[in-house]
This record gives sequence, C-alpha cells and structure tokens, in this order.
Amino acid sequence: MSLSALRASVRRSALRAATAPRASTTALIRPRIAFRKYSTEPESAPKSNTGLIAGVAAAVLLGGGAYFLLSGDDSAPGAVKAKFVPTQDDYQKVYNAIADLMDEAGDYDDGSYGPVILRLAWHASGTFDVASGTGGSNYATMRFAPESLHGANAGLDVARGLMEKIKAQFPWISYGDLWTLGGVAAVQEMSGPRIPWRPGRIDGFAENVTPDGRLPDATQGGAHLRAIFGRMGFNDQEIVALSGAHALGRCHAARSGFEGPWTFSPTTVTNDYFTLLFSETWVWKKWNGPKQLEDKKTKSLMMLPTDYVIVSDKGFKKYAKAYADDNDLFFKDFSAVIAKLFELGVPATQWVSPEPWSMKTLDEQKK
Ligand code: HEM
Repeated sequence: MSLSALRASVRRSALRAATAPRASTTALIRPRIAFRKYSTEPESAPKSNTGLIAGVAAAVLLGGGAYFLLSGDDSAPGAVKAKFVPTQDDYQKVYNAIADLMDEAGDYDDGSYGPVILRLAWHASGTFDVASGTGGSNYATMRFAPESLHGANAGLDVARGLMEKIKAQFPWISYGDLWTLGGVAAVQEMSGPRIPWRPGRIDGFAENVTPDGRLPDATQGGAHLRAIFGRMGFNDQEIVALSGAHALGRCHAARSGFEGPWTFSPTTVTNDYFTLLFSETWVWKKWNGPKQLEDKKTKSLMMLPTDYVIVSDKGFKKYAKAYADDNDLFFKDFSAVIAKLFELGVPATQWVSPEPWSMKTLDEQKK
C-alpha cells in the first residue's frame, strides 16, 4: 500500500472511530490495514521493527491518542475493534490508583512506594540522547533485557512490578505514560509541586533498548554529571534542581551498594536535600562499602559523591544555595525540570494534548 493510501485509510478509520458514540465503541470496524496494539505486553514484542515503523507512522498520522482506538482482534482476521478514547478523567483514575497503591507499602522502606516509583520514571526517561533522538520515556524499553538488568536499574523491578498491577486495571495505557504518570503521582502525593503531564507515549520493542551507561554513576564528579545530563539536554541549573529529588527515598546496599536516606523526611518533597548539604558537616563513611558521605552529627544521613559535587562545584553551588534558601524557587524549578525530563524522547506529534495537563492530588479531589 502506498503511503498516501495508508494515510487515507488511517484517517478514515480514525474519523469513524472518533465520531462513534462511546456506547457503541465495541462495534467492529474494518480498516484496510491491520494495526497492532500500542499497549503491548513485553512478551508479545515482535522480532522485527516493521510493526513498529508502521505503527509509529499510524500513531503519528492519527495525531496522538487516537491510536488507542485501534487494536488487533484475534477472533476476526483483518478486523480491528474500536476501543474507547481515554479522557483526562480516565488518566486521573490511573493517577488515583497509583496514589492509593503507593500508600499500601506497609513496612516497605519508609512506608511509601513513592520514591522507587519516581526513580523508575526518571530512569525510563533519563536514557535520552539528544544527538541521536534515542532513549527517553517514549518506548518504556526498561521492560526488556538487557536494559532491565543494567546495574543502574537494580531494584526497579519492585516499581515495575507495582506498575503491572495498575496496568492490569487499565490495560489501555502505554507503559511510558503509566510510568511517568507514576512519577507525577509520586511527587505530587508526597507534598511536592504540581508536575504538568500529558499522555502520548507508545510502547516500543526489545530492539529499542538503550545501551548501558546512559544513567549517572554516583561515584563520579562534575564532568561526568555534565556529560550525562548534557546528553539529555540539561544545563547546570537543571542538573541541580533534578538532584533535589534525593530529598526522597534511600539507597539500598543490595541494589546500588550505597546505604541510607539523604534526609530525615524521605517521603516528603522538600528542599531539605539542599539545606542539609549546607548545614551539616559531611565526612567519608568508614565502612566496607562504596565511598559515600555521612553527616558527622547523627551519622544517619548519607550523600553520594555526586550529591556532594552539587556543593563543591562552583557552577552547581550557586543554584544549590538558591534552592536551600528558597523552597518556592526549588518547587518551581523542580516542577519544570521534572516535566521536561518525563517528556524526553517523545515526538511532538504523539502528544494527545497540545498543552500538558494538571493532574489532581487525592486530597484535592476530596475537597
Ligand atoms: C545526579 C545523578 C544521580 C545519581 C548518581 C543518582 C544515584 C542514585 C542512587 C545510587 C540511588 C540509590 C538506589 C538504591 O540503592 O536503591 C538513587 C536513588 C534515588 N534516586 Fe537518584 N541519582 C541521580 C539523580 C536522580 C534524579 C535526577 C532523580 C529524580 C528526578 C533521582 C531520584 C531518586 C530517588 C527518588 C531515589 C530513591 C529510590 C528509592 O528510595 O528506592 N535521582 N539515586
């Protein structure tokens, strides 16, 4: 089929499905080409890129969310079933389910799955390479080995497992949208700023996995941070704002080798990471583990070598000081940089909405 015929066929199918009333969306429609579903399961990934290329073309031609309309129907060869078009309310339901699940952590760590869910969203997005346009949150390639097994991703199977529970409830959402929405829910539910977010990511395949070494190595210095984050398209100020995420969560010896939390309130977004970097005396921890710092006073907090670079490097330090002095400024910049991070690698044509949305917190919905 020629490209123009394909385009016409896709437009016709999309129009028919988009204009169909919601109640009748289970009716069969018959486009001329077979579409594959974009909310793929890892095990159903095909061996070749052909489906991906055709699918990406279809997604682009359909202009964002309409690709959710079409999914392969095993029972009728050549036919596809029209599915519902998710609205912002539907994504809000996913957000709410993630927020509820985060609170069911019980004895896990500090009582919330929020930090590890945020880390999943960051590692899924932080593989982006500006030069080649590869990586980023679009294809959710951490579902596949070897990316799932990269050292930097150790422990993220916990978060991916949690997200599978949500995926089972909302099978229409793509993994990239699910994981990044998880990151948004984590920040917002842990008292952080609003993170503008919109859907449109599509599931890629094993062939799209990114090479090892794209995420930062905590043992390194400023040049490494600038090289890694510069490759994603971030400047010094953005690197510092992003690092403020370490107000949350903790290191696990069994995952990264490092141990301990950065702040006294690891399930609340604050600028404490910055204030503590300045207010405490940080000394090398004497232990049988990788080089990390501990606070001299209580010995209960930690900093990675890369965290300490944030206050020892002149270029970074001025931003760290500004964030330590002004929580509102940190929240404003953190919101902007997290929104940017989560959109890395997603072609503009895929967005369902021209502008990002504002997802509501659980508390806000109770009012
Ligand atoms: C600056 C470079 C960074 C380095 C070297 C780094 C390194 C690490 C390491 C080693 C851990 C401990 C993992 C474990 O043992 O479970 C960790 C945890 C974490 N990181 Fe980073 N990270 C960086 C930037 C970021 C960014 C940009 C974000 C988010 C925007 C982030 C969010 C987190 C969170 C929330 C945790 C806690 C996870 C948990 O509690 O399970 N990090 N990071």
